[in-house]
Amino acid sequence: MNALRLSLIALLSIGTAVGIYYIVAGASPPPAASAPPERIWRNEDCRACHPDVWQEWWESWHRMAWVDPLFKKLSNNYADRTCYDCHIPRNIPEVGFGPRTLPRASDKESGIHCLSCHYDGRSVVALRANPSAPCRPRAAPELGTELACIGCHNQHKLHEEWRNSVYFQQGVGCTDCHMPVVERRREDRTVAGRHHAFLSSRNRDFSRLAVAVSVVGPKEPGGRTDRLTVSITNQEVGHDFPSDSRHKAVDLMTQFLGADEQPLGPAHRERFHIPRRDALDQTRTTLPHGETRTFEYPLPAGAAAAEVQLVYRIMKDDPNVDAQTLLRRIVRW
Ligand code: HEC
Ligand code: HEC
Ligand code: HEC
Ligand code: HEC
Ligand code: HEC
Repeated sequence: MNALRLSLIALLSIGTAVGIYYIVAGASPPPAASAPPERIWRNEDCRACHPDVWQEWWESWHRMAWVDPLFKKLSNNYADRTCYDCHIPRNIPEVGFGPRTLPRASDKESGIHCLSCHYDGRSVVALRANPSAPCRPRAAPELGTELACIGCHNQHKLHEEWRNSVYFQQGVGCTDCHMPVVERRREDRTVAGRHHAFLSSRNRDFSRLAVAVSVVGPKEPGGRTDRLTVSITNQEVGHDFPSDSRHKAVDLMTQFLGADEQPLGPAHRERFHIPRRDALDQTRTTLPHGETRTFEYPLPAGAAAAEVQLVYRIMKDDPNVDAQTLLRRIVRW
């Protein structure tokens, strides 16, 4: 009882102190708060002076976030407004780095654009301030951290997965992997920049080195005469593989082949994905960083080889939407 009262009193006095602080601060606001915006920027304005960044962004899924035909279809031809928050966000530096984003009403076609990450409604923001640059960016150190991403990319715990990985302990963050350092040419020199295409498994090669698949047939060292052993390891993905969206899945497909190289029966399929909310019979099977999962299949009569493929599906339930083979291995015996 006493402890409770003490803490209440403590809270009240902090409240009073804060109130006084605000009254004093209100009497002489910091000049920045009332100054007019340096310039009203439009997204198009950035293009002329940053053509290389513009081109990378143009090819990214961030630019596609509204015009993506899949988005149009799944949002019921744009009728579902709950989708707007992340696909056409209001400028993050204005709303705040980290929390859930809010929707904007104009220039929808450009999706997640330069201003979404780089404009606070008053000035351009960059990792470091640069008063001598024509766009005069002020510093927003959050741009170098996960706070620049997780307002949208944490619907299904990607942020926690990364925090539980060794990358977090080593200080390797989202931008270190997804915005690799690139050289940018200036008239008289080159400067270091950050690639703005935001690659993932949807882009060729990005995940090929990050996950490993091993196949051990009956003739291989450690192999068993009656079965095939297939393992998959998440080596260098800084979170689960795959992660984030529930629409996607990665399928590990194993097809036994006869001596004539023709398929023997249906392929085995192991699916890595996050189930939809209504799929109560399914569990989450994504592969955390550093983990290996192993599957053993009895050899069917007449099997002489097996083809193992890792297939990345953007829409797991729709075979008509592009699927990509990330890895393929053939083992013969
Ligand atoms: C008139 C040309 C011009 C325009 C327009 C312009 N910038 Fe810049 N910006 C520069 C120059 C020059 C630099 C200095 C660094 C460099 O050479 O890349 C710079 C620096 C930056 C940086 C910091 C890079 C660093 O680390 O030093 C960011 C971020 C940036 N601009 C974003 C933008 C955005 C977003 C827009 C559109 C709202 C924009 N700029 C419009 C010329 C321009
Ligand atoms: C909280 C933010 C957020 C909201 C709200 C949101 N999305 Fe997304 N959406 C994302 C992110 C982040 C990705 C990229 C995730 C990934 O690639 O795994 C994405 C990707 C997609 C994709 C690309 C396919 C894919 O899985 O990569 C489609 C299509 C899509 N969303 C449709 C929608 C629709 C339709 C709605 C509304 C019902 C919606 N989104 C609401 C954040 C959001
Ligand atoms: C305003 C919300 C938002 C922010 C902030 C954001 N993203 Fe995205 N991101 C999305 C959406 C939505 C998509 C998918 C667009 C589509 O495919 O239609 C996406 C796509 C991606 C993809 C490609 C996913 C795929 O399936 O191919 C990667 C990688 C990515 N973002 C990484 C990042 C990183 C790293 C950051 C932080 C620097 C970041 N994003 C900030 C919303 C956001
Ligand atoms: C150590 C490198 C690394 C770090 C750190 C990392 N990622 Fe990734 N990320 C990858 C690789 C590799 C892939 C492609 C494999 C895949 O599809 O999961 C990927 C895929 C993605 C995708 C596409 C979804 C998917 O799984 O297909 C999104 C979105 C994404 N990352 C966002 C983030 C965000 C946000 C952070 C920070 C919280 C982050 N990543 C940290 C390496 C990294
Ligand atoms: C999803 C958020 C996001 C979007 C969209 C985005 N940027 Fe960036 N940008 C960043 C982050 C984060 C960094 C800082 C990365 C670092 O250095 O750690 C950055 C760095 C930069 C830099 C300095 C590094 C370099 O490559 O020169 C410039 C300039 C820049 N952005 C301009 C732009 C322009 C122009 C656009 C639109 C075409 C754009 N950005 C779109 C997040 C974004």
